[in-house]
Amino acid sequence: SNEVNAVIIMFGGSGDLAHRKLYPALFGLYRKGVLKDHFAVIGTARRPWSDDYYRGVVRDSVAGSEEEHEAEAEAFASHFYYQSHDVTDSSHYVTLKQLAQKLDDQYAVGGNRMYYMAMAPQFFATIATHLKSEALLTKTGFNRLIIEKPFGHDYPSAKELNDALTGTFAEEQIYRIDHYLGKEMAQAILALRFGNPLLKTVWNKDYIKDIQITLAEAVGVEERAGYYETAGALRDMVQNHVMQLLAYLTMDEPTAMTSEAVHEVKSRAFDQLHRYTEEEAAANFIRAQYTAAAIDGQAIKGYREEDGVASASLTDTFVAGRIMTDAPAFAGVPIFIRTGKRLTRKSTQVTVTFKGGKTPFGEGQDAHLTIYIEPSQGYTLELNGKQLGEGNILTPNRLDFRHDPAAIAAAPEAYERLIGEALAGDQTNFNHWRELAQTWHYVDVITAAWQKQTGIETYPAGTMGPQAAFDLLAKDGHQWYWQP
Ligand code: BG6
Repeated sequence: SNEVNAVIIMFGGSGDLAHRKLYPALFGLYRKGVLKDHFAVIGTARRPWSDDYYRGVVRDSVAGSEEEHEAEAEAFASHFYYQSHDVTDSSHYVTLKQLAQKLDDQYAVGGNRMYYMAMAPQFFATIATHLKSEALLTKTGFNRLIIEKPFGHDYPSAKELNDALTGTFAEEQIYRIDHYLGKEMAQAILALRFGNPLLKTVWNKDYIKDIQITLAEAVGVEERAGYYETAGALRDMVQNHVMQLLAYLTMDEPTAMTSEAVHEVKSRAFDQLHRYTEEEAAANFIRAQYTAAAIDGQAIKGYREEDGVASASLTDTFVAGRIMTDAPAFAGVPIFIRTGKRLTRKSTQVTVTFKGGKTPFGEGQDAHLTIYIEPSQGYTLELNGKQLGEGNILTPNRLDFRHDPAAIAAAPEAYERLIGEALAGDQTNFNHWRELAQTWHYVDVITAAWQKQTGIETYPAGTMGPQAAFDLLAKDGHQWYWQP
C-alpha cells in the first residue's frame, strides 16, 4: 500500500490557506488511503482553540456538498489536534514536541514528521531555528519541511531565510512549494514537449517565433493589501509561477523525470536567462496599476482606493515583460510574459508561435500551440491545411483538445498532488534553493530599475493591461495571442 505514516505539524493551522487548500488536500489523500490510520495533524496558531472546535473547522473545510463524505470527514477530522502556539516562545516548542511524541505513540507513526509553514512569512526563520534548538526533529523516520511562498522578497532576504532553514534542515528535507507545479497542465507542458518527437524537433529558434505566458486574474487585491503592498505582481507571480512555467518551456530535455535530472535542466535554463542591465530592464518590463471602472454595471475600485493601499502606491498590479535567453536553442526568440489582477478574466495560458513562411502553396501562416492551464485545461494546435474546393489554397485548421470538466474535477487538485509527493519524498516538483536564488537575481534587477521610476502605467479594471504592454510586442512585429 502507499500509506504514509506521519505526524504533520501545521504552522498557520487557523489560516485561510489551510482552510481553503491544505485541509481539502489532506482529505483527498485520506480518501485515497495515503493517510489512513497512522497519522495525526497538529494545527498551531496564536488563537486559543479547543481540539473540538478545530475539528469542526477542519470538517467544515472538507465537507463540500456530498453527503456521503460526512462520515469520512468526521473520521478524518478526529486525527486533528490543536495547539495554541507563540512562535517566539521556546517553551511552546517543548509542549509541541511532547504532543507530537504522544500522538506518534498513539497512532504508531514511527517517528515521521512533516512540518508545514503556512503562516506569515516573517516567522518562517524563527520557527526553523526553534525546531532545532528545542530538538523537535526525530531520530527515527523522516523529517520534512514544506514551506509556502513568499520565500523572501529579494535575493538577500531569500538567502537569509534559506540560511535559517538549512541550519535545521538539509536541502533533501526542504520542500519549497510553488503550487503552479502541481497543476495538471503545467506538468502537461513537459509531456507535450518531450513526449512528442513531432514537437521536440521544432522546439527551437529555427521554428519558433515567440513564446508567450499569460497569468490573468479577474480578482483585485481582495483582503490581502497588507501583503500585496509589499510584493506586487512581479514578486507575487513572476519570480515564482511565471518563471517556473518559463523553465518548463525552455529547459533542455531531462534524462529522466527524476528530481535530480529535472532540477539540473531547470537550473541551467535559469542560468541561461539573459541578464538585463537596469536600463534594459526598464525598457523591457512594464509595470502598471488598475484604476476604477464599471464592469457589468458594477463599480470596481481602483487599486489605490482599495482598503489598506497607500493613496500614492506605486505597487505593480500588472507586469508585462520581454525575456531573452542565451540558451543556444532559443537565441533571439523573445519570451513575452504578463500577469495582473483585475484583467478581463481568469485564464492562464501559454502560447508557442511557430513561424509560417514560404511553401509551394504560397505564404504559410504562423501556427500557434496554446496550452490552457486554467480554468480550461487542454491545448489547441493550428496546422495549415487545404481549403475545400478547387486550387491549392492554404488555410489554418485548429485542433482543439480540452479535458472533460468532470475528469478535471475528479483529478487531484495541485495541493493534494504536491503534498502527496512530499509525503512520498519526491522533490521533483518543488523548488530547489538554486532556482530561487536564480529567479530572485533575475527579478531584483527589474525591481531596482522600477525603484528609480516615479510613475506607473495604469489600466482600467477589466482590461488586459496598459497600451504599453501591447506596444512592447508590436514594436518587433509580435502580438499577444489570447484565446477564449
Ligand atoms: C498566488 C498569489 O501565489 O497565486 C495570488 O499570491 C494569486 O495573488 C494566486 O491569486 C493565483 O493562483 P491560481 O492557482 O488561482 O492561479
